[in-house]
Amino acid sequence: MSVLVTGGAGFIASHLVDVLVSKQSNIVVLDDLSSGKKENVNKKAKLIVKDIVRDDIDSAFKGVSTVFHFAADPLVKESAENPAHSFNINVSGTFRVLEACRKNNVKKIVFASTSTVYGDAAVIPTPETALLEPVSNYGASKLANEAYVSSYCHTYGMRGVSLRFANIFGPRSTHGVMKDFFFKLKKNAKQLEILGDGKQDKSYLFVSDCIEAILLASEKSAKAYSAFNVGSSDKMKVLEVARIVCEIMRVSPDFSFTGGKRGWVGDVPVMLLDTKKICALGWKQKTSFKQGVKKYVEWLKTLTGFD
Ligand SMILES: NC(=O)c1ccc[n+]([C@@H]2O[C@H](COP(=O)([O-])OP(=O)(O)OC[C@H]3O[C@@H](n4cnc5c(N)ncnc54)[C@H](O)[C@@H]3O)[C@@H](O)[C@H]2O)c1
Repeated sequence: MSVLVTGGAGFIASHLVDVLVSKQSNIVVLDDLSSGKKENVNKKAKLIVKDIVRDDIDSAFKGVSTVFHFAADPLVKESAENPAHSFNINVSGTFRVLEACRKNNVKKIVFASTSTVYGDAAVIPTPETALLEPVSNYGASKLANEAYVSSYCHTYGMRGVSLRFANIFGPRSTHGVMKDFFFKLKKNAKQLEILGDGKQDKSYLFVSDCIEAILLASEKSAKAYSAFNVGSSDKMKVLEVARIVCEIMRVSPDFSFTGGKRGWVGDVPVMLLDTKKICALGWKQKTSFKQGVKKYVEWLKTLTGFD
């Protein structure tokens, strides 16, 4: 039997594939390379280049025991500008992945969900039992996905896990606040524009800790279906993120702010997840925020030659 990773040429899932191939053979990556890169895909994995929305994907699921479903349009801001895009890839795409699982008798699905399913949560840190009221189309699409993963597990006898990630960062990430700051500072080290008022206060988790949580939940979750939060123990203000990126890059720009509580439409300004449930499975954050940012900035420098 093999393990299939959708979106395995992208940021998070390519790290997952790196760990999976070190544990077992027969790892298959299904990705249309729309934002993912071939060079991210571990050489020991088999890459199938297909679009989960438009292509016939059923045959890729033959002989597969576990699916890690990470292919998605992960951009919150863009989901307001082009709602059909995130709907098609996230909702229709996930439905097609679930159908392929059903037809091929896949036993387990691990789904990449998001903290944005909570919207502006009333309780911080937010537990998995909190009200689910997304404020972005992206969050809505992921909540719909979670509902379908749950219903497919209960209806067709699969086991399923949804992982509600905070902001995940690290090498190979092609979006997010740190990358935004890095490239702005590369252009002009004297001035840094911060989206919003800089007081947005959120959870950021380094990718290796995220991968450990994914594998643990996949292996140890006992129920037919469960959702787990995955995030850091503390939150960090965006202005502080900017200061740490500047310190690591050894630059001292003036900060300017676009203003407003949210950095963009659909942004959730305060986010910290209650992670007791995943911690009860034995998970623990290992990489501090600053250690993680250092590693990420070092990787960004290799992309650009910036020093
Ligand atoms: N990065 C984060 O902070 C974060 C937070 C919460 C949830 N997530 C979720 O985790 C998953 C991975 O996110 P990421 O940051 O690594 O994003 P990413 O964009 O790096 O990875 C997504 C991958 O999916 C592929 N893909 C997109 N559309 C596809 C299609 N139609 N058919 C086949 N492949 C397709 C892309 O080519 C890419 O390789 C996503 O589901 C995302 O919503 C990420």
